[in-house]
Amino acid sequence: MQVSVCVSCRGTDGRTSCPGNDLIAALRTAFAPEDGDVTVRPVQCLGVCKRQTTVAVTAPDGYTFLVGDLDVTTGAAALAVFVRAYRQSGYGMVPWQERPEVLRRRLIARVPPASWSPPDGRAPP
Ligand code: FES
Repeated sequence: MQVSVCVSCRGTDGRTSCPGNDLIAALRTAFAPEDGDVTVRPVQCLGVCKRQTTVAVTAPDGYTFLVGDLDVTTGAAALAVFVRAYRQSGYGMVPWQERPEVLRRRLIARVPPASWSPPDGRAPP
């Protein structure tokens, strides 16, 4: 699975450096070896520039979760917890109550995978 971090965001505090790079470094520390095949990658603008720093979590057959307004320290810790829950959930559909509080309030979008397309559009059980 992949955690894509926007490195175009500039932060709201007048920083000239990119908070996304700091978040990437924190994420790479936050993930443990048992987290396995998690790739943390820098990406360009994710299109929600007013919600910086912005991150997308996805997997080939999983939901895509887009979150923003992330602080480096609390965001990295919350994303590590979320990724572990994602891996345990069908199609990565982490139940709301299992999402870290930090991410609940910062969710921008959740997009179902192409491989999950029931006629009624329901979420995976
Ligand atoms: S610059 Fe980061 S989402 Fe647009």
